[in-house]
Amino acid sequence: MTTLIPATLIPGDGIGPEIIDATLAALDALKAPFDWDRQIAGLEGVEQAGDPLPQATLDSIRRTRLALKGPLETPSGGGYRSSNVRLREEFKLYANLRPARTIIPGGRFDNVDLVVVRENLEGLYIGHEHYVQIDDDPHAVAMGTGINTRAGSRRLLEFAFEHAIAAGRKKVTLVHKANIMKALTGIFLETGLELYERKYKGKFELDTIIVDACAMKLVLNPLQFDMLVTTNLFGDILSDLVAGLVGGLGMAPGANIGADAAIFEAVHGSAPDIAGKGIANPTALLLAAALMLDHVKLTEKATRLRQALDATLNIDKVRTGDLGGKANTAAFTKALVSRIANG
Ligand code: NAI
Repeated sequence: MTTLIPATLIPGDGIGPEIIDATLAALDALKAPFDWDRQIAGLEGVEQAGDPLPQATLDSIRRTRLALKGPLETPSGGGYRSSNVRLREEFKLYANLRPARTIIPGGRFDNVDLVVVRENLEGLYIGHEHYVQIDDDPHAVAMGTGINTRAGSRRLLEFAFEHAIAAGRKKVTLVHKANIMKALTGIFLETGLELYERKYKGKFELDTIIVDACAMKLVLNPLQFDMLVTTNLFGDILSDLVAGLVGGLGMAPGANIGADAAIFEAVHGSAPDIAGKGIANPTALLLAAALMLDHVKLTEKATRLRQALDATLNIDKVRTGDLGGKANTAAFTKALVSRIANG
């Protein structure tokens, strides 16, 4: 008998429940042995429990240490704090993994297959910011502090290097700006080089690059990179840049891996403009589910899911409207499930 794997399921807001249903149908077809505990968060959390991240949801993730999450709405400006940021802090989700792979050829570049690993908790995103008033201008000076620690850099780099080996990546590139921010990003670079020499030398090639040069080279020829590892702010920007190289955020999955849990999601938001219409593209969440299968070492099922997605999109040419196709979410899901069943 297969052992069930407890996992938290957060359908989320907007198109979340629609793309979660599609993903569950694919996982069922794969006989993925998840024992789901359905929970709420985001706007649904506010409406039903008065909290965008209810205690029951936190307790569930603390128990399962594994979650698949739809997009959560966050009001801009005022309102409540992003539940995504709170989840990151609560479960110390220090590594953000963003693979970018060409799925539909014919874009600007074919055969892109790279991954960005971003430090998720430190750097310039810690939020230590303030204004200084001069005379009658309360915003005369703005100040922000970044903090990177040796320990925080090392655990992220160790995760990235282990992932590189497990995923068969040949080259890892450390992205930094240590020529200008000598301490803040220098510590990350120094820790990475030292860790490689001590523990990983020969297991893959290690390279380093300054972030601005990296952005230019990615746009000119992304095929020269295999895995990029970097600090919080640079990783935020570069991971969206590489998503753009393979067709935009609609095709991009993300994993947030931490000391206490791992949470898998699509990179896009709740798409309120098309919510409830049954036309959303579930591909990004399906790819996130494939990352989740990899994470629990069900690699064969992850590969089958990716292959079925490739076949549905490129051989059967069943595509949703955002990809120029005519299929709605249900028709796309049906085609995918039949590919999984017959694959
Ligand atoms: P969005 O990603 O929701 O939408 C941008 C555009 O892409 C829209 O036109 C939308 O229809 C389209 N789109 C997005 N996903 C799609 C899909 N799967 N299939 C077809 N079309 C798709 O970004 P937006 O509008 O800036 O944010 C909406 C809400 O989502 C906000 O409240 C924001 O805070 C939240 N959000 C949540 C994220 C998360 O939970 N990880 C990430 C990004 C945004």
